[in-house]
Amino acid sequence: MKSIIIETKFKVFEDETELPKDAFGLMQKAKSIRLKAYAPYSNFKVGAALLLDNGKIITGNNQENAAYPSGLCAERSAIFYAGSQHPETKILAIAIIAGSINKTTTHPIPPCGACRQAISEYEIKQNAPIEIYFMGETGKVVKSNSIEDLLPFGFDKSFL
Ligand code: THU
Repeated sequence: MKSIIIETKFKVFEDETELPKDAFGLMQKAKSIRLKAYAPYSNFKVGAALLLDNGKIITGNNQENAAYPSGLCAERSAIFYAGSQHPETKILAIAIIAGSINKTTTHPIPPCGACRQAISEYEIKQNAPIEIYFMGETGKVVKSNSIEDLLPFGFDKSFL
């Protein structure tokens, strides 16, 4: 028997104003699309913005449904749009901002497991890391250099 130790590393910025210029701009796009989320059931709104390597920014937000599992997270709304409209273009970064409309969320909200899996698919497809920035409505921003740090020991096409 042996143990496997997986080390992951994140950067933590005190607030969004500490971010590099591109990431700050991307977070502002995520922030404004978050306000348009359709979240009447959870009252929890999420915005995501992707920076493509042609400079384009793709945004998405969560879309809920009366049949709850039929809804979709913000990250997957955005990344599936990018995958369908710009299949040959690499995704450089994704900014995510999330929080309840009933209270101010001041701690960083990471992407859910299903969104990590979806981001991982595109990172593997493009063979280049996707930077991930995530935050609550205010406060600290966490940066992951690659989805691998958020989803170690992931499931991928090599197992099929
Ligand atoms: N949600 C996202 O949009 N992204 C995540 O990574 C986690 C959760 C949405 C789904 C649902 O509309 C609401 O937040 C509450 O779970």
